[in-house]
Amino acid sequence: MCPPRYFEVGYAINPWMDPVGGRADAELALRQWESLRTTYLGLGHEVELIDPVPGLPDMVFAANGALVVGTRALGASFAHPERQDEAGAYRRRLEETSGVAQVVAPQHVNEGEGDFLVVGDVVLAGTGFRTDPAAHAEVEQALALPVVSLTLVDPRYYHLDTAIGVLDDQTIAYYPPAFDEQGQQTLATLFPEAVVATEEDAATLGLNLVSDGHNVVLPAAATALAERLAGLGFAPHPVDLSELLKAGGSVKCCTMELHRHRSAPTTH
Ligand code: ARG
Repeated sequence: MCPPRYFEVGYAINPWMDPVGGRADAELALRQWESLRTTYLGLGHEVELIDPVPGLPDMVFAANGALVVGTRALGASFAHPERQDEAGAYRRRLEETSGVAQVVAPQHVNEGEGDFLVVGDVVLAGTGFRTDPAAHAEVEQALALPVVSLTLVDPRYYHLDTAIGVLDDQTIAYYPPAFDEQGQQTLATLFPEAVVATEEDAATLGLNLVSDGHNVVLPAAATALAERLAGLGFAPHPVDLSELLKAGGSVKCCTMELHRHRSAPTTH
C-alpha cells in the first residue's frame, strides 16, 4: 500500500475525476486510507508500504503498480503520461521485497492488478481502456498462468477491478454491463455461480473489493452488496474511502495483493 501523502485530484484520466468540482480533502483521504490499512492488520494480514513520490497523486492506487504471483512480478507500464513514473517506483520497491525473486519489465501497456485479477490458477485480464491486449499474452508468458481476456466497454468501469470483485478461488462478483457481449458470455460460462452485481453495487465501486476468501473488505457505500455477501457466508468489512473515490478508486485500487502463496511458475 502507498499512503496518499501527495494525493489530489489535479487532472482527469477517468470519468470519476473532476479537478474543478471534485477536489478531495487530502487529510481525510489519509485518515480513510489509514482505516483501510488497520482493517487489513486487524484481519491478520501483513501490509508492506511503498514511499509515495511527490507529483504522483495517483500512486496511492497500488494495485496498478504490478501483478505479483508466487515469486515473480510483472511490472506496470501506464497508459497515461501522468502516471508513467509510478512504474519505476513500484518496480524498485518490489525488487527489495522479500519473497519476490524477479521483476519482469513489461513490453506493453498494462496497469497491473487494476486489469489483472487472479482467480485460483487463472488470470482474468481486462482491456478496452488501459491495458493493451498484447500485455495479456505477456502475463501468460511471464507468470505461466492461463489468461482470460475480457473487454470493458463502459468508461466508468475503466479497470477490470472496478467491474469484478474476486471473492475466493472459484467465486467472483461482477457487473455484466461493464463488458462487451463476448466478455459477458465468457464470464457467465466460467462463473455460473457468480454474484451478479446491480447497477447500484457497481456505481459505488462496490466491486472494488479485497477478499481473503472469507473476509471481504469493500467500500462502505456498497451496503446492498455487503448484505448479499453476508447472506452467502462471507464476512463484509466496510471501509469509507469517499475521498479516494473522487479519483475513481477504492479498496482494491489501494491494494496490490502479493499472491506470494501461489506456487512459482515453472517455465522460463
Ligand atoms: N485515478 C486513477 C486512474 O485513473 C485511479 C486508479 C484506480 N485504480 C484501480 N486499480 N482501479 O488511473
